[in-house]
Amino acid sequence: MKVLVVGSGGREHAIAWHLRRSGATVVVAPGNAGTGALNAPVQALDIDGLVDLAKNERVDLTLVGPEAPLAAGLVDRFAVEKLTVFGPTRAAARLEWSKAWTKDFLGRHGIPTAAVETVGSREEAHHAIERRGLPLVLKADGLAAGKGVFVVSTPAEVDSALHMLFDGLGEKTILVEECLEGPELSVLAFSDGQTLRVMPPARDYKRLLDGDHGPNTGGMGGYTCPSDATQELLADVEQRILRPTLEGMQREGHPYQGVLYAGLMLTRDGPKVLEFNCRFGDPECELILPLLETNLAEICLAAASGELGHVGVDWRDDRTYGVVLAARGYPDAPRTGDTITGLDGIPARVFGFHAGTRLADDSRLVTAGGRVLTLVGEDWHMVYRGARAVHFDGKQFRGDIGVEIPEGIGASR
Ligand SMILES: Nc1ncnc2c1ncn2[C@@H]1O[C@H](COP(=O)(O)OP(=O)(O)O)[C@@H](O)[C@H]1O
Ligand SMILES: [Mg+2]
Repeated sequence: MKVLVVGSGGREHAIAWHLRRSGATVVVAPGNAGTGALNAPVQALDIDGLVDLAKNERVDLTLVGPEAPLAAGLVDRFAVEKLTVFGPTRAAARLEWSKAWTKDFLGRHGIPTAAVETVGSREEAHHAIERRGLPLVLKADGLAAGKGVFVVSTPAEVDSALHMLFDGLGEKTILVEECLEGPELSVLAFSDGQTLRVMPPARDYKRLLDGDHGPNTGGMGGYTCPSDATQELLADVEQRILRPTLEGMQREGHPYQGVLYAGLMLTRDGPKVLEFNCRFGDPECELILPLLETNLAEICLAAASGELGHVGVDWRDDRTYGVVLAARGYPDAPRTGDTITGLDGIPARVFGFHAGTRLADDSRLVTAGGRVLTLVGEDWHMVYRGARAVHFDGKQFRGDIGVEIPEGIGASR
């Protein structure tokens, strides 16, 4: 089996690693230094280039890491070209690329989520905010790479958030949303449009610094199977959120095939949807895949042909921890080009998934992005031993990933 993996982060390194472990031949476009020998120089948004690559390499299956090519219609185009791809069509990926549409969808299907008003101007926003009272959450409708959500509790915060949304991001539509409280949880599932195979749940850490201080990031790490994600809770999430979402998408004519990622808040009234993503998360993917015992290509191939119901998906009953090593200046202005050393000091049972890495002309391994490596393992101390062993100038990482404080809560709220 030959598989094309689209993307260049830690997520795609983990996907490529898992596929190769099951004996697949893998091509990564464009990849990073961790997937170096497998890389093809085609960018993730170059859909024509990816079609040519998939044809020239005669791949059996394509897996897409990031959301942007899915929102741009990669899957629709591959279908026209009769190329097998695992992921949602542009219409199905709307669950991620339009938060306003998704809130309407959730409402139509009675799926629990925060109350919302969708507004099209600053003036309407101010009216909605006055009616509802602070605190509130202001959100961009469209894709914003993690920079489109503001929890606001003062008029000054409202002003700066509206400025960022309407002027900075150029949004035409924004959401004024009820502020929910509780720990967060990510629940991901494979789907072929009808059948769901739920993955072990994960909790990620978005803030740069320990104790959830500092600026928001793409994610500084996380762990799987937090103590408060009980079997009962997961059954509830499947029954009241994931299944009705799949059924709703099917009924509305956009069957959802791909990884469905529900970002949830565990409120006192039960789990509620904060958002959906239409693909694996990063770093959730690096945390979850080491637990997957079934051949990933077989799962995705079955899902792509609507036959996920015939495939059992097995998981190891363990918890993984993942710590992201970030570059100096991340997230505002990450510096690149710093020499990375010490990878040979990563303990044997810890994976070092590459994200922003590159081989320089003189074959030094150097930093090439904000998030540089994700270290993942089952033994917390070993993961941190690896985090300390790797060196590059200005390395930043959190020291409290997966440390559960009393009440079973360990992360970003
Ligand atoms: N209704 C809400 N109430 C409280 N916090 C929220 C709410 N919606 C979002 N958040 C916070 O903002 C973060 C980002 O929001 P999310 O909808 O996941 O957008 P994105 O991941 O696209 O930036 C969430 O992880 C959560 O911490
Ligand atoms: Mg989110």
